[in-house]
Amino acid sequence: MKKIFILFFLVSLFASCYYDKYENLYPLGNNTCDSSTVTYSGAVTEILSSYCYSCHNSSTATGAVILDTYADANTYALNGQLMGCVKGETGYPMMPPSASLNDCDIARLQKWVNDGAPDN
Ligand code: HEC
Repeated sequence: MKKIFILFFLVSLFASCYYDKYENLYPLGNNTCDSSTVTYSGAVTEILSSYCYSCHNSSTATGAVILDTYADANTYALNGQLMGCVKGETGYPMMPPSASLNDCDIARLQKWVNDGAPDN
């Protein structure tokens, strides 16, 4: 009798592991991260405007940092501060300060920086 319970327990454990997987439940959902093609005019401005412009724009340049023009964003991308901050690397203040960006947005910014932060 005990064995049956243990068996049942193990089976239900595996079953729940399988069905609880987000990728299995929503294989074509919005959970996919496409960081293969990233443009400044697309993903980069979308991310920066959602999470950074509020403190770093031409009239409110918190910490003397402006990010809402291509030239400024490009400067911070190429001098390492942009990724240093969003990835919370040692020596950089975590940005945004309240909660970090999600992994997909970090990967997309990284792709743009790796490409040389082009104005595309
Ligand atoms: C709530 C306001 C706020 C938001 C939102 C915000 N920042 Fe900042 N940021 C600051 C402040 C304040 C400083 C100065 C902090 C310091 O030097 O310790 C700063 C400094 C910086 C610096 C300069 C860091 C250095 O090493 O001197 C960079 C680069 C930066 N932020 C990038 C970003 C990026 C990228 C985002 C969006 C992902 C962002 N920030 C969102 C407030 C903000």
